[in-house]
Amino acid sequence: MDKYVINGGSKLYGSVTVQAAKNSVLPLLAATVLTDGEVTLRNVPGITDVKNMVKILTRLGCKAVFSGNDLIIDSSTADCFEIPSELAHELRSSVFLLGSVISRFRTAKIAYPGGCDIGLRPVDLHLTGLKKLGVEITEENGYIICRCDSLRGDEIMLDCPSVGATENIMLAAVKAEGVTIIKNAAREPEIEDLQRFLNKIGANVKGAGSGTIVVRGVKQLGGCDYIPIPDRIEAGTFLIAAAMCGGEVELRQANAENISSLLHKLRENGCKIRINDDKIELESHRRLTSVKSIETQPYPGFPTDLQAQITALCCICRGQSIVTENLFETRFKYVPELRKMGADVTVINRNAFVRGVEKFKGATVVAHDLRGGAALVLAALAADGRSEILDISHIDRGYGSFEYKLRGLGGDIVRVSV
Ligand code: EPZ
Repeated sequence: MDKYVINGGSKLYGSVTVQAAKNSVLPLLAATVLTDGEVTLRNVPGITDVKNMVKILTRLGCKAVFSGNDLIIDSSTADCFEIPSELAHELRSSVFLLGSVISRFRTAKIAYPGGCDIGLRPVDLHLTGLKKLGVEITEENGYIICRCDSLRGDEIMLDCPSVGATENIMLAAVKAEGVTIIKNAAREPEIEDLQRFLNKIGANVKGAGSGTIVVRGVKQLGGCDYIPIPDRIEAGTFLIAAAMCGGEVELRQANAENISSLLHKLRENGCKIRINDDKIELESHRRLTSVKSIETQPYPGFPTDLQAQITALCCICRGQSIVTENLFETRFKYVPELRKMGADVTVINRNAFVRGVEKFKGATVVAHDLRGGAALVLAALAADGRSEILDISHIDRGYGSFEYKLRGLGGDIVRVSV
């Protein structure tokens, strides 16, 4: 397992290009199973979650190869409907392959994706939605088994605006008979990206980004060459890094609209932020002032995937903050690690009560999940002294060339194999 060794204290200066969004590329890869046409996705990061999704597609009989940063998929040879359990456990979000696999094979089998590091991660909304479209679902020995004679459109009301459930139902509905209406649908930019992609290969999907999505079933889908949206969470992570370390950082190929809730908070902290087309510049040269409260919400609210990173920022601001995690049950596992670095944070249920301290102190800490691990890297970069971040395989799931990009900005960070 690799670790990072970081010597903190350097300000960050320079430009960094944002990767394609992990949480868009994954559902787009699932969508390729729907079509026999060749699909090329551009600017795809070589992160573990993408590599695992490529392994799953390969096991389904698809051809998927990287050519530089482009990923070329040909699903015309797909001949298997079982998502391998060891990969399903590695990649929880493989569950939204169900929709496209059922659409292609009229059957699908996947190991029950267990809870993971940030909460229970149920899939009840996925399964309820698929049942409305005519799918029979049984659960046997830890597997979810889906069968249907045909998929028929229907109206589905989601109890909560689940991103994955919205995507799964969209994928199952694209070639169903008739019209599917998804109400209380997730509004995330990645849902709009999936709609754009599906329509580009010949589907008929409208309403993504609003609370109601309408899918009119079509018979035939083709291929396409597609550039996924930039990763708003990677972009936010780098902006928070610059705010914590101080300096002047420019993001390229970014989309400010997709992280407006974060930009609002960073301005409140005292950062100078300039937006120019697909560039976002952040400048910070003095200790920041805390924001009183941050609550994670479904989009367009403050993203849960930036909760750990913004909490790390709050830890070295002047003043006190309360960070509330409303989406996942246990998404504060990084807090004990921040306390090892001198943070003054107390977690009670879904709230983290933060009292700002002057500086983090370097320490040896452990990454427990993807975004919590990223938060520890940011804290170490801003700390006085040397830190080690252990088990960084969690971070490799979602950040491509992370240490390379941070070194390019002046961060003193190296990867060490242990
Ligand atoms: C997606 O996960 C993202 N992953 C997550 O990013 C992100 O945190 C999350 O959306 C929320 O924005 C991908 O897109 C691959 P949800 P997903 O279904 O789809 C409850 C990262 O760090 N729920 O919107 O699993 C659930 O318990 C990852 O990049 C049900 O109750 O999230 C949670 O409280 C982490 N029943 C809430 O909905 C269900 O059937 C939001 O979950 C499904 C979800």
